[in-house]
Amino acid sequence: MPDSDRPADDRLRFAPMRRADIDAVVRIETESFPTPWHHGHFLHELDHNPYSVNRVLRCGGAVVGYASVWILDAELQVNKIAIDPAHRRKGYGRRLMRRLLTLAAEMRCRRVSLEVRPTNREARKLYLKLGFVEAGRRADYYGPGEPAILMRWVLPEGEGDVVGPGRSEV
Ligand SMILES: CC(C)(COP(=O)(O)OP(=O)(O)OC[C@H]1O[C@@H](n2cnc3c(N)ncnc32)[C@H](O)[C@@H]1OP(=O)(O)O)[C@@H](O)C(=O)NCCC(=O)NCCS
Repeated sequence: MPDSDRPADDRLRFAPMRRADIDAVVRIETESFPTPWHHGHFLHELDHNPYSVNRVLRCGGAVVGYASVWILDAELQVNKIAIDPAHRRKGYGRRLMRRLLTLAAEMRCRRVSLEVRPTNREARKLYLKLGFVEAGRRADYYGPGEPAILMRWVLPEGEGDVVGPGRSEV
């Protein structure tokens, strides 16, 4: 269902991830990925990685999704994006990804890239709907015999320029 057909949810907020959010993020992460990042990994991204930008989607205060990206060399690389299983298929994933595309434009990135498992139909459909294209395959990316599909979203000509590393705030 397109976003325009969904009832607006005024309780939704896209916000910087805080240390206090990590437990909720790790719970969703563990329910979403076969080899999840642990608490310390997110803490490192928040406190020590200057290229890392981490966001949560809140609904009425509760974390219902999150994304962790790097912004580097005019590229926004999506490392993690997930929605709480209890809140999927409500348009939240699309909204979160759209906010990342807006962030990429604000940071003057030229492209957005990510890797996805060929078996992850839901995510691939979401990305294709938002205008991502398949840009190749990475053999053994997730382990022996487990390739990744590389997907890219390119900003319209002239909208991207130079981007400096560092944290962004939206
Ligand atoms: C992928 C993910 C983020 C989608 O989040 P979501 O909030 O459920 O997605 P949305 O409700 O915004 O759906 C957007 C589009 O994605 C596609 N989609 C999402 N879930 C789907 C499903 N179960 N089956 C088929 N298509 C699906 C549809 O095209 C949908 O558009 P539509 O509603 O118009 O049909 C979510 O499934 C998730 O967290 N998965 C686990 C983590 C993960 O795989 N992350 C991506 C790693 S690359």
